[in-house]
Amino acid sequence: MADLTLNVNGTELRVRAADDAPLLWVLRNKLGLTGTKYGCGEGQCGACTVLVNGQATRSCLTPAPATVGAKITTIEGLEKAGVLSAVQKAFLEADAMQCGYCTSGMILAATALLREHAHPSDEQIVEAMEGNICRCGTYPRIVAAIRRAAEMQMASEGRKEEPEYVHG
Ligand code: FES
Ligand code: FES
Repeated sequence: MADLTLNVNGTELRVRAADDAPLLWVLRNKLGLTGTKYGCGEGQCGACTVLVNGQATRSCLTPAPATVGAKITTIEGLEKAGVLSAVQKAFLEADAMQCGYCTSGMILAATALLREHAHPSDEQIVEAMEGNICRCGTYPRIVAAIRRAAEMQMASEGRKEEPEYVHG
């Protein structure tokens, strides 16, 4: 067992966990952040995706001790002062969910994508999201939501479309 200090959603939190405890279980069972979902436990589905220093990360495969000193963001940390992030709003607008089990992982993966590519092409969206599985098959609406989130973010930042953007 180890005493860990984790920076989760901007707050330093102390937890006691096994040396090899996956971040997923620490988030869910020790910190009560159950928005991060357990799907396969093997890095295959993306349901457990969180951001670690802005990078989409499989929390089921990431030992919690390896994230000490990093900034961890879960679905609970995207909302700021009661305002949803552009990606969260776009997923709601596009109705990009059915059962919703994959949704938090999808939203975190999309958030990481838009940090890297402010206005991705549909091909870039599909490539970035292909490790996230939706058993309900809402992929077309997920792609539409990410396209919409990119537009919302660009508009809020007063930026123009990047030249490589291709409408799908
Ligand atoms: S639960 Fe982590 S990738 Fe499936
Ligand atoms: S909405 Fe059900 S798994 Fe994606």
